[in-house]
Amino acid sequence: MIPIARPLIGQEEKQAVLEVLESGMLTQGPRVQAFEAAFAEYCGVRHAVATSSGTTALHTALLAHGIGSGDEVITTPFTFIASANSILFTGAKPVFVDIEKDSFNINPLLIEEKITPHTKAIMPVHLFGLPADMDPIMEIAERHGLVVIEDACQAHGVEYRGKRVGSFGTGCFSFYPTKNITTAEGGMITTNDDKIAEKCRVIRQHGMHRRYYHDELGFNFRMTDVHAAIGLAQLQKLERFNQIRIANARYLSEHLQGVITPVVPEGRRHVFHQYTIRVSDGRRDAVLDGLRERGIGAEVYYPLPVHWQKFYKDMGYDVSLPEAEQACQEVLSLPVHPGLSQEDLKTIVGAVNELCG
Ligand SMILES: Cc1ncc(COP(=O)(O)O)c(C=O)c1O
Repeated sequence: MIPIARPLIGQEEKQAVLEVLESGMLTQGPRVQAFEAAFAEYCGVRHAVATSSGTTALHTALLAHGIGSGDEVITTPFTFIASANSILFTGAKPVFVDIEKDSFNINPLLIEEKITPHTKAIMPVHLFGLPADMDPIMEIAERHGLVVIEDACQAHGVEYRGKRVGSFGTGCFSFYPTKNITTAEGGMITTNDDKIAEKCRVIRQHGMHRRYYHDELGFNFRMTDVHAAIGLAQLQKLERFNQIRIANARYLSEHLQGVITPVVPEGRRHVFHQYTIRVSDGRRDAVLDGLRERGIGAEVYYPLPVHWQKFYKDMGYDVSLPEAEQACQEVLSLPVHPGLSQEDLKTIVGAVNELCG
């Protein structure tokens, strides 16, 4: 089976983990600090705060901006559920805005009609490694005095008009094993705001301002040095991994027939966390089965929009978001990761064209 994702762990990561294990400093130590500094530099921001996952990065960032009960946060329904759940964790309400057909990202033209006196933030998700349309989003946020929290969990190294994501608002990244780089589990918050960075560090460590003085309720959302050491080694490889993903995606787009291939709007850098095609006319599930029979680990990200998930329905979500709903019926992600060989790419193209061409 050609897997949909494969973490590439080399000697560097293994050696770095051994060094941590022998150092005696296992968590929230020098590797975490070094990883934070390197990641902040990579994103072009003043601060990065490491957390235990992308989910806890989002949760912490929302809390640091004072978002809680009675507040509304505008986001997309076409995402991994953690984006919206992190809003629920704070007591605030996710308000869903439909997506653009081509980019799969939140449609800025539909945001303003969902703003109410309770709206505190907009959370765009840079889905599949393509940035959301940040100019209009930042302009709307500024005009209405809203915070922007970027869910960049799938967007390491993504750029919008030459600027890295995670540097527009407060950025949140994930290092889950399927991501463009991994720490096994892990997350990172990026910001240019000194106060927000400090607040995130406090929330991450049980609300502790100074050793064993706790002025507020916080969590244990720490990253360990073992994970940070893997992250430091992976970060060195991120640009190479992204370039291979981009080249693999180019090959697929040049050779696939009978399907709608991903778009890359001008001025945006897509790093192909996922290479997601559309298969229309109700054929998607048959194509998925056909690919799996041919040894290709294709996946559907995501079969349900968040507002159709059972517990969101149980909470009373009853909205129509037709583009997101249709995307869930048609999307199919193909392997694009840097572990693919030329032979793998040919096999994927051959199978898709046989089934769809
Ligand atoms: C868009 C999006 N948001 C949030 C998350 C949550 O990240 P994690 O799994 O590291 O908690 C993920 C990844 O899994 C994601 O893809």
